[in-house]
Amino acid sequence: MDSMRRTIDWDGDAIVIVDQCALPDTLQTLRLHILDELIGAIQRLAVRGAPALGAAGALGVALAARAHPDDPDTVRAEAERLAAARPTAVNLGWGVRQALASLPDGPDAVLASAQALLDDDERVNRQASARAGELILDLCERRPLRFLTHCNTGRLATVAWGTALGAVKHLALAGHVESVLVDETRPLLQGARLTAFELAEAGIPYRLCPDSAAATALARGLVDCVVVGADRIARNGDVANKVGTFPLALAAHHARVPFVVVAPESTLDPDVPAGDAIVVEERAADEVTHLAGRAIAPDGAAAYNPAFDITPAEFVTAIVTEEHVFAQGVWRAS
Ligand code: MRU
Repeated sequence: MDSMRRTIDWDGDAIVIVDQCALPDTLQTLRLHILDELIGAIQRLAVRGAPALGAAGALGVALAARAHPDDPDTVRAEAERLAAARPTAVNLGWGVRQALASLPDGPDAVLASAQALLDDDERVNRQASARAGELILDLCERRPLRFLTHCNTGRLATVAWGTALGAVKHLALAGHVESVLVDETRPLLQGARLTAFELAEAGIPYRLCPDSAAATALARGLVDCVVVGADRIARNGDVANKVGTFPLALAAHHARVPFVVVAPESTLDPDVPAGDAIVVEERAADEVTHLAGRAIAPDGAAAYNPAFDITPAEFVTAIVTEEHVFAQGVWRAS
């Protein structure tokens, strides 16, 4: 199996993922044979990023269906547990539901449906990111382009290729990219550990940037376009994404720099009218009080650690999916 090309896949009797907790030191894969192993991997972010979580949801239902071939009620209960592993990215529950729809046809049909979802993910993300690339060329005059991005939205956050970082890669292949400023993305450093790894792999020039320096970079005219992904998009265009996205959007607005969100249509949530209805995952205090296993705060320090924030639609220049460009975000009348 080509584990280097796909971040998450099915191989024989198990789900195989690139272990994102081990990057950038080690590029290794993990084989997950039972649902609890998958849920653990999702919760510690060994597999992460909204589209990759959609794939994990679908493949997890395939695991459960094979484990309980004559017991659909148990499979449904397991699927519910899986969908609740992380609350913010809509894609996880979406992937679970897509695969569950084939449950009446048996475990092989569930697996086939999950595998089709994986194939689709790469196609859809390539389409969305190519469309975003075209839009960015229209929005920005300066060439070559200087990007700023947050968190990781590349191949590691999807089955393959990526969304916002996919757009950067498309444009880099066409010779339009000068460099990328990469927010380190405290506290779990998806920017420093994963996006920097992917940009190095793709040969695209980048510089790491403390999250707190991003506004200064924008205000000083060092950035032509901000590109980010999304975990859930409300009907009014409010965007849930990695914490730190909202301040970036405010700073981009202040500097009059386009702020572009790239995501598959599966990240649009028709059940959520506005961002305030999105559940934001709060994670453990030790992610803030510790760095690489070492305490960086006094013993017993409390922490506020929301994993995501909500960017109001008014600060989003456009949301780009495989099918649409939504200027100012609103994608469905409420
Ligand atoms: O906590 P994470 O690493 O799963 O958060 C990921 C993000 O916020 C990404 O920006 C988002 O899922 C889009 S990935 C194409």
